[in-house]
Amino acid sequence: MRDFFPGLAGVAATKSHISSVDGQQGILEYRGIRIEELAAHGTFLETAYLLLFNELPTSSALQQFENDLRRHRRIKYRIIDLIKCLPEHGHPMDALQAAVAALGMFYPTPDVRDPEARYWSAIRLLAKLPTMVAAFARLRHGDDHIQPNDNLSYAENFFYMLFEQQPDSAVATMFDTSLILHAEHTMNASTFSGLVTASTLADPYTVISSAIGTLKGPLHGGANEAVIHMLEDIGSVEQVSVYLDQKMAAKEKIMGFGHRVYKVKDPRALILQELAQRMIKDEKHDSLLTIAHVVEREMEQRLGHKGIRPNVDFYSGIIYYQMGIATDMFTPVFAMARVAGWLAHCFEQYQQNHLFRPDQIYEGPHNRPYEPIESRGHSSSVT
Ligand code: SDX
Repeated sequence: MRDFFPGLAGVAATKSHISSVDGQQGILEYRGIRIEELAAHGTFLETAYLLLFNELPTSSALQQFENDLRRHRRIKYRIIDLIKCLPEHGHPMDALQAAVAALGMFYPTPDVRDPEARYWSAIRLLAKLPTMVAAFARLRHGDDHIQPNDNLSYAENFFYMLFEQQPDSAVATMFDTSLILHAEHTMNASTFSGLVTASTLADPYTVISSAIGTLKGPLHGGANEAVIHMLEDIGSVEQVSVYLDQKMAAKEKIMGFGHRVYKVKDPRALILQELAQRMIKDEKHDSLLTIAHVVEREMEQRLGHKGIRPNVDFYSGIIYYQMGIATDMFTPVFAMARVAGWLAHCFEQYQQNHLFRPDQIYEGPHNRPYEPIESRGHSSSVT
């Protein structure tokens, strides 16, 4: 009898040098560096460089990397035209996935084992995702997209393309720190999805398009958006207990809680909670953050003993909400950061490739006869 591991829980699908998680201790390291160190002292672009090239960059290497990224922020007008054709009520993650797949059509990568081709695909994807995310956010409402401003940092430029104004430096720094925390997380579902695509030697744009589709789901990256809807549905601290009782009686998952690996509070949630508290100094009685604190306290009593605690998605949305970013844009922002980790794993896979093709346990029938249509019984409903 073959071994069966639902959701491949606990199964090592690859060997990697990129990041590690200790779910019992709540430790996350990128290339061996604790994320608390990177969040306190680093920048997202430094972190992306570390993930891609295994070392923190020297100042000249970082300068070169940043210059390359600034020069590649613009997107082809045909991609803007494509985004303009998308339904305005469509989800921004679908728009991003479509735009990334189209991006790859403009930059064919015939040989994914060519390091030069890999480097420039990484530069284009890291540099252009924010431009495409901001473009859809504006075009869907009939506003013109805003061209990137090469004089601004990565975070400042994203806010400029979204709001036509720069954020204050504290907000830009907090946004950058949040991107560091979202950049990488070992063998999560979207990274694994990208790896499967990479193992067929598909190009990096196609790999990232696969990963974006997987990140969208509410059990994964889509949870940050679902958390805000949950906190708004709860509406007040007095309603928290009733809400959780109803959800749990209906066996529904509480968004932003639980994790396949962490059985303690996600170390990223600890830092994001602190960022949220720094942003929302005057916590009003029924602010989303106040409600979130009560949800966390109530959940600890209910499910803490099962190791179901806040994950990265529980506090991140509150920060983006406070920054004025639309709720359905939270997961595209997650993708802007995670593209660094996805690319690092994609390139690692190319260099140690083995096609992913798992087995299954077949439980269906064998040797069924082909019945002529005249003699078939009433077709059972297919829905
Ligand atoms: C991310 O993998 C990564 O690293 C992902 C990520 C990353 O950086 O890439 O960290 C980002 O996706 C974070 C997770 C965001 N998703 C959510 O917040 C959605 C809510 N969470 C759950 O759906 C769930 O916790 C998962 C999907 C995250 C993990 O689920 P598992 O490991 O498959 O565990 P499970 O669903 O089998 O649950 C085990 C038990 C079940 O109870 P029993 O049937 O055993 O009685 O725990 C319960 C579950 O019902 N449970 C929850 C719960 N999460 C698990 N019960 C209520 N609320 C929850 N949130």
